[in-house]
Amino acid sequence: MKVGVIGAGTMGQGIAKAFAQNEGYEVALCDIKQEWAEGGKEKIAKGYDRLVQKGKLTQDAVDAILGRITPGLKEDLCKDCDLIVEAAFEDINVKKTTFAELDKIAKPECIFASNTSSLSITEIGNGLTRPMVGMHFFNPADRMSLSRLSLV
Ligand SMILES: NC(=O)c1ccc[n+]([C@@H]2O[C@H](COP(=O)([O-])OP(=O)(O)OC[C@H]3O[C@@H](n4cnc5c(N)ncnc54)[C@H](O)[C@@H]3O)[C@@H](O)[C@H]2O)c1
Repeated sequence: MKVGVIGAGTMGQGIAKAFAQNEGYEVALCDIKQEWAEGGKEKIAKGYDRLVQKGKLTQDAVDAILGRITPGLKEDLCKDCDLIVEAAFEDINVKKTTFAELDKIAKPECIFASNTSSLSITEIGNGLTRPMVGMHFFNPADRMSLSRLSLV
């Protein structure tokens, strides 16, 4: 299953890890610029380095997780995603514009989800060709249970 994560900041990094830590998932970690997406993956890698140094994870396990995360732009990576989780800025216009663009890029059966903290899922999804899912993770997303899942 291929998961697109939009926004390689605090939450996007955690959500990318939450999926990539499981075999069978491939993650496209996307941001506005290629280098910002790469920077997000580098921060993820640094976090895992510390766990390897403490003996909590093997380097092989970390290499497998990192091998499942590809950083880049949604235009290049999201065409064949099965699920896209948006964790961009908490701004209704940013989220609406991002999903309107994704609606043209992603395959029709791809599920759209937003990690918004406070915005209306109905409003974010208004005008799209497909339904929206609210998928709210707590920080750190890879260590906390998914806190809320809502369907619109
Ligand atoms: N930080 C938390 O504890 C927390 C918890 C739950 C939910 N959230 C929600 O998650 C979302 C992200 O929060 P965060 O704390 O990770 O923010 P952040 O500022 O750390 O990261 C946001 C990232 O999104 C990128 N971005 C912005 N617009 C984009 C676009 N159009 N396309 C691609 N990338 C874009 C930014 O460059 C940045 O890297 C927000 O909606 C926030 O409300 C945050």
